Amino acid sequence: MRLTVIGCGYVGLVTGACLAAAGHEVHCTDIDRKRIDMLKAGKVPIYEEHLDEVLRRAVAEKKIFYTADASEAIRAGDVIFICVGTPPKESGEADLSAIDHVAREIATFAQGPKLVVEKSTVPALTGVQLQKALGAYSRDGSIRFEVASNPEFLREGTAVGDFFHPDRIVVGVENEKSAQLMRNIYGPILERKFHCPVHQGKCPTATGELLITTINSAELIKHASNSFLALKISYANVISDLCERIGADVEQVTHAMGLDPRIGTQFLKAGLGFGGFCFPKDIQAFIHLAGTVGVDFGMLKAAESVNKQRIERYFEKIHKALWVVRGKRVAVLGLAFKANTDDIRFAPALEVVRRLLEEGAEVYASDPEAMTKTKALFPDVKYYEDPYEALKQADAALVCTEWKSFREIDWDRAGKSMTRRLVIDGRNLYSPKKMQELGFEYYSFGRP
Ligand code: UGA
Repeated sequence: MRLTVIGCGYVGLVTGACLAAAGHEVHCTDIDRKRIDMLKAGKVPIYEEHLDEVLRRAVAEKKIFYTADASEAIRAGDVIFICVGTPPKESGEADLSAIDHVAREIATFAQGPKLVVEKSTVPALTGVQLQKALGAYSRDGSIRFEVASNPEFLREGTAVGDFFHPDRIVVGVENEKSAQLMRNIYGPILERKFHCPVHQGKCPTATGELLITTINSAELIKHASNSFLALKISYANVISDLCERIGADVEQVTHAMGLDPRIGTQFLKAGLGFGGFCFPKDIQAFIHLAGTVGVDFGMLKAAESVNKQRIERYFEKIHKALWVVRGKRVAVLGLAFKANTDDIRFAPALEVVRRLLEEGAEVYASDPEAMTKTKALFPDVKYYEDPYEALKQADAALVCTEWKSFREIDWDRAGKSMTRRLVIDGRNLYSPKKMQELGFEYYSFGRP
């Protein structure tokens, strides 16, 4: 099939690349000309594991095309995926101006019927507005636009694997014709007719389900899923605070809880809390949406406030351990909002760095992927590719992101070059017993 992807960010590029790998002809466009130029030059503007390989193969097989000309891209595809940003406004409400802009472009440039698919995370009822906008902006109303909602459940860092091996594909449509088009698009994914770069022939056997719903339900499924995961993390964090007061171990508690299949072990990791461009803005938008229809989503407000307090909890530990922060040399390990990404948007680590600088610390940072982006925000921080370099002469090490390479640090070696053997672990990466045996003063969340 001939598909168009508007917006070449995380969602758009992964969607475009993987649908091209599934055999479709994909035309990608973006308002940012530099991004398109980079893609044309064979460079990938974001760090996402395996994405470069999937794009390279799609280009070689002439399945993916990039253009800065939106009209050309819109005319090329029968189905158009909208993958533009929906950032939060001051009020928490999602800013849908980019979606509105794209709707106007589609209505202006389309020369034949189109199925317009919302892939960006949008609040419920956006589909209704999109349908109205397409009608209102079209020149003479002669072209038929159908709308569908196809929320993405990709996690940054494992997005390519998530796309190729989804646990569910949700498609909200208005009629059977659109449902059939979407089944045709995802058929090769569900039937495994693509080259998977992630598992080298050893793909998981379970296949996901394609669920056909109404557009309103599809929109709600996305927000309800993300919010539930955020609730789970905040729940674990409150349990962690309780463990500290009572003298229990949060890892033991959440592990045992998670063995109940109704609860599950994932997303119960206590620590600095959630960040990124999805959870914080999605729960704000969901709270806002609920408010507009007279539903008070109190429990989600509580989850949000628990998450905001995580930094405060962390600084209580920092102050307890370091006493005065001013003039201290502090190594910050991890800047990205989570491991395996260069994304620093709403990263808890950035708030930690901001407060450390405000309190007069000298900050030495290391992150495998996120340093380039962070340098622009914090030019006064010193950056090191090698975490052992950042740790030299440090009065304390603060671990803010759960990177595997940090999990594997040889603390005995690092400790020899540190001024003081002190680790304040925001992600519970190490065994308190082992750290103590190595002579470290070690603080983490919810563990004795
Ligand atoms: C999240 C969802 O997991 C995806 O399903 C969804 O598609 C995506 O948002 C989106 O809406 O686009 P993502 O933001 O990439 O994906 O990140 P997650 O892996 O969900 O992690 C979010 C944050 O929670 C990270 O800061 C992570 O460190 C934190 N976290 C995660 C915890 O603090 N504890 C946990 O137990 C798990």
